[in-house]
Amino acid sequence: MSASNPGADTAISIPKKGTVPAIKLIMMPRDTNANGTIFGGVILSQIDLAAAVEAHRWHPGRLVTVAMEKVEFHRPVFVGDLVSFYTSTVRTGTTSVTVRVDVWAQRRQEKIELVPVTRATVTMVAVDDQGDKTPLMRRDDPLPLY
Ligand SMILES: CC(C)(COP(=O)(O)OP(=O)(O)OC[C@H]1O[C@@H](n2cnc3c(N)ncnc32)[C@H](O)[C@@H]1OP(=O)(O)O)[C@@H](O)C(=O)NCCC(=O)NCCS
Repeated sequence: MSASNPGADTAISIPKKGTVPAIKLIMMPRDTNANGTIFGGVILSQIDLAAAVEAHRWHPGRLVTVAMEKVEFHRPVFVGDLVSFYTSTVRTGTTSVTVRVDVWAQRRQEKIELVPVTRATVTMVAVDDQGDKTPLMRRDDPLPLY
């Protein structure tokens, strides 16, 4: 396996062997933009979902996205790439969970090559049935990510 990091400020953490991604999926022709590469909005929506998977470890109830830090795409993603969304919790507050999401693409070729695509930091807030913020349920005891 080979991997590279694009720069210090936007460094994407190389996943340790055996780390389980929150989401892993193969990109399909329906996910493309007018140029034939994968539409950035598809990756953004999966980042949002991956952050939710991680945040639900702290709060199995309703969560909404309140913020997503600047996102830069370093490399294109192609149809057939296997894209993995690795998550880690950066911070838990009273009502919010901040999650880092690192996105890697595995090209469809014989030699296994992981390509860093992008990273993002997403903050999600626990809300009640009225949509008002509410304290996290499991601030000291996160559920495992299988
Ligand atoms: C999320 C929401 C319930 C927050 O309500 P609020 O009463 O304004 O909450 P606050 O400003 O007190 O912030 C709540 C938490 O979010 C955090 N937060 C708020 N704005 C943030 C931002 N821009 N970046 C990071 N964290 C933020 C606060 O630090 C706080 O965390 P803590 O309780 O863990 O310390 C409300 O803003 C909302 O409903 N937003 C729309 C969410 C949505 O629909 N998302 C999908 C968009 S399509």
